[in-house]
Amino acid sequence: MKFLVTAGPTREFFDPVRFLSNRSSGRMGYAVAAAAAARGHEVVLISGPVALAPPPAVRVVNVVSALDMLAAVEDEIEKCDALVMCAAVADWRPKVFSESKLKKRDMAARIELVPNPDILSALRPRKGNRIFAGFAAETGNLLEEAQGKLLRKGLDIIVANDVTQPGAGFETDTNIVTILSTDAEPEHLPLMGKDAVAVRIIERIERKAPAAP
Ligand code: PMT
Repeated sequence: MKFLVTAGPTREFFDPVRFLSNRSSGRMGYAVAAAAAARGHEVVLISGPVALAPPPAVRVVNVVSALDMLAAVEDEIEKCDALVMCAAVADWRPKVFSESKLKKRDMAARIELVPNPDILSALRPRKGNRIFAGFAAETGNLLEEAQGKLLRKGLDIIVANDVTQPGAGFETDTNIVTILSTDAEPEHLPLMGKDAVAVRIIERIERKAPAAP
């Protein structure tokens, strides 16, 4: 299969030195890309700014902002069989970008924001037979919130992580996730290494993939 995976945060700059972003080290997404490649799949990884080495046998496309990530996903989507959106995409960006560094004395106390596109929703018309998997980073009502995103974003699978739990979510080497899908009961996984979680996700996608003609 051909996998398209996103990882890491996006950065939304309002001058050359300042930006808004989301928490994400990229470890979970890089583990997904590495697991897919290790299982013999062709993998493209679209990565926000992270401090990780590229996984072996994976083609990495580096991006910065949510709009860059959308454009990169749009460029690659036709070639993939499965999209795994692990990136922590910023939902908003500053309305105005200043080419020069804003002086503290000239800065307003408020920054006007405009919404970024939802990448999964934007790609929905091009889904076809592709498998779309998302992640849900939640701080409460984990299963309800994740189930809502599964349906609203037209996904086949969503991996829910409660980022308030020790050992789960951002920046750790481990995660605690529940895998929800449109055709199976929720699968609750215990505390596991992100590499092992990634294998479970790839196995789920492989089982869901339409048989090759
Ligand atoms: O990188 P690590 O430090 O290892 O941390 C991993 C993680 C916690 C970031 C990861 O496991 C995770 O949960 N990633 C998704 C975080 C997130 O942004 O969740 P969300 O609930 O805001 O978004 C839901 C889904 O929509 C995600 O698949 C997201 O990629 C996608 N999305 C979000 C916003 C947007 N504008 N477009 C999108 O497609």
